[in-house]
Amino acid sequence: MNEHVTIRQPVEWEGKPIRVPAPIAMLAELTHRCPLACPYCSNPLELESVKAELSTAEWIDVFQQASAMGVLHLHLSGGEPASRRDLVELTAAAAAAGLYTNLITSGIGLTEKRIAELSDAGLDHLQLSIQGATPALADKVGGYKGGYDRKIAVAEWTHAAGIPLTVNAVCHKQNMDQIGDMLDLAVRLGARRIEIATVQFHGWADKNRAALMPTREQFLKTNAFVEEARKRLEGIIVIDYVGADHHATYPKACMGGWGRTGINITPSGKVLPCHAAETIPSLVFDNVRDRRLAEIWYEGQAFNAYRGDSWMPELCRSCDRKHIDFGGCRCQAMAMAGDAAATDPVCVRSPLRTLLMEQAEADSRAEPPPFVYRGR
Ligand code: SF4
Ligand code: FES
Repeated sequence: MNEHVTIRQPVEWEGKPIRVPAPIAMLAELTHRCPLACPYCSNPLELESVKAELSTAEWIDVFQQASAMGVLHLHLSGGEPASRRDLVELTAAAAAAGLYTNLITSGIGLTEKRIAELSDAGLDHLQLSIQGATPALADKVGGYKGGYDRKIAVAEWTHAAGIPLTVNAVCHKQNMDQIGDMLDLAVRLGARRIEIATVQFHGWADKNRAALMPTREQFLKTNAFVEEARKRLEGIIVIDYVGADHHATYPKACMGGWGRTGINITPSGKVLPCHAAETIPSLVFDNVRDRRLAEIWYEGQAFNAYRGDSWMPELCRSCDRKHIDFGGCRCQAMAMAGDAAATDPVCVRSPLRTLLMEQAEADSRAEPPPFVYRGR
């Protein structure tokens, strides 16, 4: 099946039409249900109900369409994807469609038997979140008693089943001083990779800024630690690190650039250019129940809104770094500047940069208030 469609709305870069490539990766948010209540949850403030979720057959059709249009990597995510009873069936269908399958999970809801079934179904990789290096802190951050012990068991079962494991450690003011211990834990658990990513402050995390914003000292200490640990543990574990945005000089290329590499599907089938795109009110989101995935990718209003450079403010359009960061994060610009087409306020050239820094500094120095946990 040829899933390529002709683009009627040309995308331009420096005044010349450019070809939109097929997406490389797809994030399938199978459900918004989740047993944890992390205070930095990246799911939207309004969660989609279980009744609205795509059926097994609908998801399988989406996977087949994705593969046909050139997607290589499928991230099975949520919420907690293990909350879906058909997770093994979905994994098998995705593998049969030729997709590399990665399960992004808190581990809650997985048993030794289910992990063995996932392995038999062709699961290629498992990414397990940890919230801290001690049961007390991890369970406090996740808002789930007994979560830490369960995660250790899941990591051991995953390793025993021969599924490559990545440990995902979201870091913030209250657990950054445990990064070294979390790294040691990941090595002990047999992980081949650890992702140390600082909390992003949009969505739910914005309610917890004073509880989560790391201080400059923590940021500098973590940078130095990661640099040293990468050398020390070369060949043992790969360390991916995303530092705190407000201490960076330039923004990162969020999503590898809008509508360039990745596609997100919500539990009810809405197709988004990134997980937070629904915070931008001017965008229109198509649904896989109404339109073919390839048509949405190439033709959809939301995908074309920030492709190329013609939407950029002059500051970015004339900047030599636009090839590197594509103007940064649209959702961050929306959250901080009230305009998704503004220069990302993280950028040192943005007029809002000083305000961003002042707010972040004040939040980082504040005595941490109790968490506002993610509501279920
Ligand atoms: Fe990136 Fe725009 Fe800043 Fe240049 S001005 S570094 S393109 S955000
Ligand atoms: Fe949406 Fe960065 S989170 S573009």
